[in-house]
Amino acid sequence: MINPTLAEMATYPFVRLEEARRRLVAEGVDVVDFGKGDPNEPTDPIIRQALVDAVPERSPYPLAQGLPELREAAAGWCRRRFGADVDPDTEIVPTYGSKEAIFSLAQVLDTAGRTVVFGEPAYPVYERGALFAGARVHTLPLRRENGFLPDIEAIPDDTALVWVNYPHNPTGAVAPLEFYERLAEAAAARDFVVASDEAYTELWFDQSPPSMLQLADRSRTIVFQTLSKRSSMTGYRSGFVAAPPEIVSALKAYRPTVGTAPQEFVQRASVVAWNDERHVDETRARYRAKRDVMIPAIEAKGWEIVASEATMYLWVIGPDPEALLERGIIVSPGEMFGPSGAGYVRFALVPTLDECRRAAAILAEL
Ligand SMILES: Cc1ncc(COP(=O)(O)O)c(C=O)c1O
Repeated sequence: MINPTLAEMATYPFVRLEEARRRLVAEGVDVVDFGKGDPNEPTDPIIRQALVDAVPERSPYPLAQGLPELREAAAGWCRRRFGADVDPDTEIVPTYGSKEAIFSLAQVLDTAGRTVVFGEPAYPVYERGALFAGARVHTLPLRRENGFLPDIEAIPDDTALVWVNYPHNPTGAVAPLEFYERLAEAAAARDFVVASDEAYTELWFDQSPPSMLQLADRSRTIVFQTLSKRSSMTGYRSGFVAAPPEIVSALKAYRPTVGTAPQEFVQRASVVAWNDERHVDETRARYRAKRDVMIPAIEAKGWEIVASEATMYLWVIGPDPEALLERGIIVSPGEMFGPSGAGYVRFALVPTLDECRRAAAILAEL
């Protein structure tokens, strides 16, 4: 009765962490949850107010193409942030966050019976989307000695789609522009499309990371952006895809069937979010303050922090997740993100600064 792809699927990893959290809370443990990457930061008041002001008496079905104001705001942001010239009418489509669009991309492209490639450890949605689309999955190990970048030479011949995600969840590694250039050249030479999941480009601490939007030739490149982490708007569900016109028209044809356009009041709040950088600077400062508490606390244990240049994550060798759980500290075991994650744990710096201080004190006593 049930689709075998669904029936064979393991529980979504974060569901297991949530179960562990609930169990501990029921036992009366004061939990500090570094598990799921859902920001606890407040959404800036100017964005919340824009949402409230935009709630109409009647809210019609939103159109897949989105409000022109939102497409303009997204294109303007691409120009300011990456110097990229993206046409708001033909090269941008708003998405309901980025997860649903990431999941369904393999259905929009001609991937059935062909190969979808991504590096692991990975965000689980690339694989799930590929399997539901009837594609084969091929993973490339992301290793420390290669800067957690995949080996472009190892991409198989029948590949239709390659996913990359930098700054990377879960390792926090950043890809240099030169890597994107080589990947785009391989895509042209070997006839595949590159999808770049750029959910974390705005959570950086030293140097702002590059984007595939900066490439001179973007004819085989699809970029996914989202307000979830940049503007702490996970619950709003708002992002966009920037892609060549042929792919954007395909998305505009596909998406009304699925019905995943963001509500117009969310789109209007998103216009305000994309047009403001002050709140993003403040968000980075908040994560930086948490890093300043957690990095020394982790290093004082003799554990090693690897990559972790950007994103809200610290990728750490050494801690035992079960031992931390007993003390009320929830982290994600690295193998949750794929076999190459074994031996690492991921701290998502989503607890408040005070909770981070409490966790640091607990670590000091371990
Ligand atoms: C790597 C990566 N991509 C995409 C997303 C999707 O985020 P959203 O659907 O909220 O835009 C996440 C969320 O955690 C993520 O970690």
